[in-house]
Amino acid sequence: MDTEGKVLLITLEGIDGSGKSTLHLALKVLLADLNPVFTREPGATWVGESVRRAIAEQIDPVTEATLFVADHAAHLAKIIRPALADGKLVISDRYSDSRYAYQAVTLKGVIQKPEEWLRAMHNGWSIIPDKTFLCVLPIDEALARLKPTNEREHFEKREILEKVQDNYLKFARAEPSRFVIVDAMKEKEEIAQFVADAIRQILQSSRSRRRR
Ligand code: TYD
Repeated sequence: MDTEGKVLLITLEGIDGSGKSTLHLALKVLLADLNPVFTREPGATWVGESVRRAIAEQIDPVTEATLFVADHAAHLAKIIRPALADGKLVISDRYSDSRYAYQAVTLKGVIQKPEEWLRAMHNGWSIIPDKTFLCVLPIDEALARLKPTNEREHFEKREILEKVQDNYLKFARAEPSRFVIVDAMKEKEEIAQFVADAIRQILQSSRSRRRR
């Protein structure tokens, strides 16, 4: 399929253990003919190393949140904007909704109205995705899929993941035309095929819109 002239940013979101990284990998195979740019947050540039360090040291929630935003800025500058300028399809494993969902939880009680603060930090320079696939599953199942408790990141706890998933679902209700809910309890092959087909369909309809 020819993607020329289309500018499309697709993001994959969901709590830890929701299978979105597995989905990202599967899409590399299923959508190889479209030659997309596959990328991720955090860690698409060297800024991600400081994010990983801040997470591991649990340094401070504001430091951590601002480093995630710095990582996003570098990601946009170095990878996403150049790819979109080239007319490429971009598929990112996590993006700004991760901040709005996770840091709204970690900054609660630290900053007033953390979600508004986080959204304001992105205003005016970030790019809103064209489509966001949100992998949703019961928290028990997500926890069962994660590493042993002593090897988990500080986000990977029931009380945090429950709130993070509630935030994601709230965003999906607020923006139903951008979000597509993916049932993460389905077989991984079925999920990947569903998302790959949906992306092809979005590309087709954006092509016919452009011709109108
Ligand atoms: P990720 O690399 O997707 O997880 P994994 O280590 O399983 O591959 O993300 C690392 C953690 O960072 C994950 O728990 C989600 C969290 N995160 C945020 O809290 N805010 C953000 O903006 C992003 C991008 C990730």
